[in-house]
Amino acid sequence: MNTTPAENYKNVVIAHSDVVIVCRPGQPILDAAHAQGIALPYACRRGICGLCAAELVQGEVMPVDAWPMTNDQCEAGQVLLCRCTPACDTITLRPSSWERLSVPRRLPPL
Ligand code: FES
Repeated sequence: MNTTPAENYKNVVIAHSDVVIVCRPGQPILDAAHAQGIALPYACRRGICGLCAAELVQGEVMPVDAWPMTNDQCEAGQVLLCRCTPACDTITLRPSSWERLSVPRRLPPL
């Protein structure tokens, strides 16, 4: 049973789209996106490959754990979506690509 108050959920808007992904407190944006039918690029989910890097257009993010939110593959203004969660009510991102899934999928635990 989910007992997280609704006011603790955060919104992630994909720039220039009608997509809004809802993140639970501490949930990686990458995981939330897939669970809600939005596929974003990824491979390692550990902050290594850099495939999930996206431009943070508006808002703030915070790390989901002790691992950094950026790596050497990130350009200025980019964060790793596998390693961060929103730190304010609504953020806007510009991922390198995205697509709607026909069926949402839950990413397996790390
Ligand atoms: S999926 Fe590899 S760094 Fe995020």
